[in-house]
Amino acid sequence: MSKVTVVGAGNVGATCANVLAVNEVASEVCLIDIKEGLAEGKAMDIMQTAQLMGFDTVVTGVTNDYSKTANSDVVVITSGLPRKPGMTREELIGVNAGIVKSVAKSILEYSPNAILIVVSNPMDTMAYLALHSLGLPKNRVIGMGGALDSSRFKYFLSQKLGCNQNEVEGFVIGGHGDTTMIPMARFATYKGIPVSELLSKEELDEVVKSTMVGGATLTGLLGTSAWMAPGAAASSVVESIIKDQKKMIPCSVALEGEYGYNDITIGVPVILGKNGIEKIVELPLNEEEKALFAASEAAVAKTTAVLKEMNVL
Ligand code: LAC
Repeated sequence: MSKVTVVGAGNVGATCANVLAVNEVASEVCLIDIKEGLAEGKAMDIMQTAQLMGFDTVVTGVTNDYSKTANSDVVVITSGLPRKPGMTREELIGVNAGIVKSVAKSILEYSPNAILIVVSNPMDTMAYLALHSLGLPKNRVIGMGGALDSSRFKYFLSQKLGCNQNEVEGFVIGGHGDTTMIPMARFATYKGIPVSELLSKEELDEVVKSTMVGGATLTGLLGTSAWMAPGAAASSVVESIIKDQKKMIPCSVALEGEYGYNDITIGVPVILGKNGIEKIVELPLNEEEKALFAASEAAVAKTTAVLKEMNVL
């Protein structure tokens, strides 16, 4: 028996709940939202696909009653406003900080041992907020941005290579921002072959650039933030934890000396299992990558510093 709560029944939250159900990641998924009837409706819609898709997960929806989320093993927080075209993720901090903090507090009242997956933007800063405002151990707060950015990186790599996405490996570290994420081209492979042997420097640069603005491109096309890949990426993070898969997934986590940084929540590869973050993987970065990581860390730290001015920590 395992229970996952998804807070926010908007596009990302409902998609995440749907993927969790279709993949039978947990036996129970609770979807909660502040908008009357929204979570109930989305949950019922998902449940009416159970025989079509062949899953047994039970999805329930509830309006604002956190007692129904009790005893969740993992909680995905998607609450808050999404981006509008032309907006950066960082601009959402003013509205989303208060929402994320109060949601996390309500969740912990009924699921004091839950592992929190933070999706709301600006994601790295919202993960920092959840961790520090509630005094949680660092293994229990995980920002999902790197999982999403890495899936976009693999998609753009496969487009450029003209190959099957499932035969590409690659990951993205750093902040979950258009200018802060770092697609790790040097470590990307196609069937074990470094992609640098298959693509020119210009082609790889294009892939890196497309990945970095991947979210903004979709926001421009859709008029709001993307939700299919964000929802599925969050589900993949939950799955590694619930099933104790020990997968290595880049996520936004609190660094305590790793990579030479402290007091920051930023994307690095981590091993995810039943305890949440089981291990932070320290990559052997070269000088160029270290410089990119330093710049990314500085930018994320600047956004995170706004929390102190807002007095929400
Ligand atoms: C994106 C949003 C969810 O990257 O941050 O699509």
